[in-house]
Amino acid sequence: MKNPRFLLLLTLFSLYCKVSNTEDVSTDTETYPAFCRSSKCPKYQLVKTYEKFEHRIYDATNWATTYLELDFFGIGMAKSFKRLHDYINGKNSEGLKLKMAVPVRVQVSLKDNSTSNATMSFFLPPAVVTPPSPLNPDVYIESFHNMSVYVKTFGGYALNFHYEKHSKKLEQELLALDLPYNNTYGIAAGYNDPLIVFNRHNEVWFTAL
Ligand SMILES: *[C@@H]1O[C@H](CO)[C@@H](O)[C@H](O)[C@H]1NC(C)=O
Ligand SMILES: *[C@@H]1O[C@H](CO)[C@@H](O)[C@H](O)[C@H]1NC(C)=O
Ligand SMILES: *[C@@H]1O[C@H](CO)[C@@H](O)[C@H](O)[C@H]1NC(C)=O
Ligand SMILES: *[C@@H]1O[C@H](CO)[C@@H](O)[C@H](O)[C@H]1NC(C)=O
Repeated sequence: MKNPRFLLLLTLFSLYCKVSNTEDVSTDTETYPAFCRSSKCPKYQLVKTYEKFEHRIYDATNWATTYLELDFFGIGMAKSFKRLHDYINGKNSEGLKLKMAVPVRVQVSLKDNSTSNATMSFFLPPAVVTPPSPLNPDVYIESFHNMSVYVKTFGGYALNFHYEKHSKKLEQELLALDLPYNNTYGIAAGYNDPLIVFNRHNEVWFTAL
């Protein structure tokens, strides 16, 4: 209990409804994976489907990221979410308001359980080619080229415990197949706000090496 790794993303999405009617700056009409529902999310190429997980290569992505303090009650989680939410809600160099995209990504160090090594990120929709600078110095922009990741998907309302459990399973499956991955950190990706009851979609990722 002293070492919560994958925390509850669920309650944070309750803030989601407040942003969902802000202006959508995106003009593209491309289709996104079905599990993203009506939200923008990063595109990827499916490299291979394994029995219990899949290998994806994502297109280049931009994320707004902030540190995340892992605490038992999820207060750090709410604080990080608020910082990122403020960024997309206009607290940036251009006062730009962005419609919230998915997933919300939580990256947790698996080697070092100090609180300073976790981050939370919002995916920034590709229509925003150059993300405006955050006004809060605790928020920064991360850009990735093609990310190659192993992804395990699961349904239901995901609590910490579930992310952790599926992440452990994915590690075991990768080890069993001798697939090299970066074991220094794990990623939890949340896609749904709490109002969605059916076909909820959650993922855990490891970076492929
Ligand atoms: C890498 O990303 C670019 C766009 O960011 C995409 O066009 C390309 O197909 C991707 N490459 C692979 C191997 O997935
Ligand atoms: C977490 O840190 C504590 C003390 O810093 C250490 O005793 C413990 O073994 C660590 N746990 C893991 C899973 O690394
Ligand atoms: C994060 O963890 C790495 C090793 O896992 C360590 O070298 C680094 O200093 C840590 N960063 C912070 C901000 O604590
Ligand atoms: C794994 O990720 C860590 C943190 O980003 C990085 O420092 C390290 O070089 C990576 N390991 C490998 C083998 O790529």
